[in-house]
Amino acid sequence: MQRFLVLGGTGFIGRHFCEKASELECRLTVLTRRSDSAKAVQTLPWVDVIVGDAHDEATLNRLVAGHDAVVNLVAILHGSEAAFHRVHVALVEKLVRACQTSGVRRVLHVSALGAAPDAPSMYQRSKAQGEAVLTASGLDVALLRPSVVFGAGDQFLNLFAKLQAVFPVMPLAGAKTRFQPVWVEDVAQAMVELLQRLVRGTLTVGAGRVFEACGPDVFTLADLVRLAGRYAGHPRPILPLPAALARLQALLMEFAPGKTLMSRDNLDSMRVDNVATGKVAGLLALGISASALETIAPSYLQAVDSDPMLKRRRSAGRF
Ligand SMILES: NC(=O)c1ccc[n+]([C@@H]2O[C@H](COP(=O)([O-])OP(=O)(O)OC[C@H]3O[C@@H](n4cnc5c(N)ncnc54)[C@H](OP(=O)(O)O)[C@@H]3O)[C@@H](O)[C@H]2O)c1
Repeated sequence: MQRFLVLGGTGFIGRHFCEKASELECRLTVLTRRSDSAKAVQTLPWVDVIVGDAHDEATLNRLVAGHDAVVNLVAILHGSEAAFHRVHVALVEKLVRACQTSGVRRVLHVSALGAAPDAPSMYQRSKAQGEAVLTASGLDVALLRPSVVFGAGDQFLNLFAKLQAVFPVMPLAGAKTRFQPVWVEDVAQAMVELLQRLVRGTLTVGAGRVFEACGPDVFTLADLVRLAGRYAGHPRPILPLPAALARLQALLMEFAPGKTLMSRDNLDSMRVDNVATGKVAGLLALGISASALETIAPSYLQAVDSDPMLKRRRSAGRF
């Protein structure tokens, strides 16, 4: 039986991947910083959860050893340049060293569509640096680059649905930016396929190891917000924000208390469309016919209105 170490396995995509990995007849070791985050995966019989710090090289070395491959999904969406470097680059460097030390050769790394050294955002540039570290490592690497990912529990369509359940209008930055949203189950399936190919050694060298994960349709952000509102039963007028106001909104949201929903770096990333380049293979090359957003999103966004936290906040007059 194959054993895979999963970093970031408790997150949105990681949880779906861990479930889907039952198809692999494998054991997964999922590393998390907090056992609380692992609730959704720890009941899966093929998953062992370990609490620890992936940034600690001794921990990483000890954990990598004895596995047949490592899956890396660790990422942050907001932070300083140093924070992005620590999570998207330095951690990958540590992972490469741990793999080299313990003789584990296979790594499946989930990057992001738009990762490029000259990309407009720190997130995308640091993702490109992480990819470059892996590509230069000499390890047996597969890279998956999803566009924005939707599905039950996403932080994207759900957020726009919840905002529209509370606010009468939607002031929107980056309204015209185009995305090619991909269903989380299709991303998880792509990861399973890539792991199988890594294990069998059937991936070709160079660009044959890089895959874009995109859905069948392209939408502007305004289209997506409109759909999220409609599916959740609260469609609101969208107010596209001019650049200066969009920046001010992002700045205020960075410093607002609670979880960061939007940052200036997010805004920067929306200066380029997030759609398949076609320069590398896509999901079809992995035998996956991507599902359309319109067939999946209504089912889980309809539940947004009955979210008890949202109801409490709405009745208290705040989101
Ligand atoms: N979701 C999307 O729309 C999307 C689109 C394109 C690309 N991606 C990429 O797909 C991957 C997974 O994304 P996701 O949406 O599933 O992410 P997520 O839900 O935010 O999960 C992130 C995971 O990383 C771990 N993590 C976060 N910060 C960390 C830190 N500072 N140190 C160590 N571990 C940390 C968390 O583990 P614990 O909290 O359990 O420790 C969690 O399991 C990422 O590489 C992301 O860039 C996602």
